[in-house]
Amino acid sequence: MGFRDCDFVINFSQFADTFQEQPRAENKKILNHSKQAGSMQNRKNASEMTDTTAAKMVVTPWEVEGIIDYEKLIKEFGMQSIAEILDEIPNPNWLMRRGIVFGHRDYQRIVEAMKEKKPWAVMSGFMPSGLPHFGHKMTMDEIVWHQHMGGKAFVGIADMEAYVVRGFSWEKAKEIGMEYVKSIIALGLKEDAIIYFQSASQVVKDLAFELAAEVNFSELKAIYGFMPETNLAKMFVTSIQAADILHPQLKEFGGPKPVVVPVGADQDPHLRLTRDLASRISIFSFERINEGLRIRSRKGAEYLHSLAGELEFDKIVYEEHIDVFGNPQEIEEKTREVELSLGGKALIPPSSTYHRFISGLTGGKMSSSKPESFVSLMDSPEVAVKKIMRAVTGGRATAEEQRKLGGEPEKCAVFEFYNFHLVKDDKELSEIESECRGGRILCGACKKRAAEMLERFLKEHQERMEEAESRLDLYHIII
Ligand code: TRP
Ligand code: SF4
Repeated sequence: MGFRDCDFVINFSQFADTFQEQPRAENKKILNHSKQAGSMQNRKNASEMTDTTAAKMVVTPWEVEGIIDYEKLIKEFGMQSIAEILDEIPNPNWLMRRGIVFGHRDYQRIVEAMKEKKPWAVMSGFMPSGLPHFGHKMTMDEIVWHQHMGGKAFVGIADMEAYVVRGFSWEKAKEIGMEYVKSIIALGLKEDAIIYFQSASQVVKDLAFELAAEVNFSELKAIYGFMPETNLAKMFVTSIQAADILHPQLKEFGGPKPVVVPVGADQDPHLRLTRDLASRISIFSFERINEGLRIRSRKGAEYLHSLAGELEFDKIVYEEHIDVFGNPQEIEEKTREVELSLGGKALIPPSSTYHRFISGLTGGKMSSSKPESFVSLMDSPEVAVKKIMRAVTGGRATAEEQRKLGGEPEKCAVFEFYNFHLVKDDKELSEIESECRGGRILCGACKKRAAEMLERFLKEHQERMEEAESRLDLYHIII
């Protein structure tokens, strides 16, 4: 989120070569949409974007720099565009409709599970490095929405990450972590969610250890830019995060199932590694072939023989693999069943969705060291109002000019607030947008309206957090 320490700067293009696993996504619809939706970081349109600006874009878990070109990000990271599957998603939320959630991997799996009412889960994590803010609120809203759509919700508080990346004590990470827990409950998380602190989950830590056995230093270096000087714990928390994402599929939690991980685009390297680890740690791996699947065993040919005996499909058995013909989904499901009976984990690569970065109120990025650049969910309404009244806007130099030319919501931090958080009704949002573009409202009045909405939201949210505190015992919290 642009909040990270900057130990390691990896050039964006370094990832591009390493991870081109998906077909390139066509992304026109979302670009058009996002232009009107507005994001300050997308200030330049594609034609203005020169190669030199684009080359400065750095997106890693540790650093987000430059002007983010989301279309390029989709292509280079090998994500898919949400716009392409929007029509298939039942009741898409406002973040998806507006292209704020702009990309995904394998979200079809989740859509299918939703439609077929099969078990699936949503999981994401929060590093309690500072008080929860509106960037975290996006992820929280996404978890809650998916839970309400029928997914089992898992909420991880990354206290191990805060310990090693921020040098926090366990006590401090716990204390701040609980504010995240109360916040997501205040935002509507239902009681059947599983909330846990990484350091308190034996299941996560055991799985992380097993996953770590599949990863070596060269790979971590390529993905995260780690150095020989990087300490072991910092490397290990990457396995902890992979375990966060995969543990909802362990038998303790009902076995393999599609899991969606809503995150900011900077977390994609974790997702790519985790998807790969899901197959590395499982026995059977799949590859699409004409009219079926090619199945290999990663743990020895004897597993292939056991599988061949169980699969009632047309098949050709080779020494190193089996080609199985039929509906790929059915073949995969049956194979996972066999794997479970053979003691394997049969993990499904996680799906993910990616949201845009939230801009700083003062222009540029949000920064944890500049409190006026963002609004915390725990800021007093008065402080928050002051921050928004001082925010950079897409207004013109003079009132006269603004009446004539209209404002530029795509450059406006206040409009971004409406878009991402304050106005969930699309019609209301497009009215605000056209008032602005038409010069029918000036920034002072517009900010005041946003400030009132924000004030109302924060008052309510903080009341709900207090109420959440008194209901915590109704939740399953591993701490
Ligand atoms: N690394 C994430 C961050 O800094 C937090 C996180 C920990 C996470 N575990 C996770 C995110 C699992 C998604 C899934 O924001
Ligand atoms: Fe932003 Fe409102 Fe000004 Fe338009 S009128 S630029 S939306 S503050």
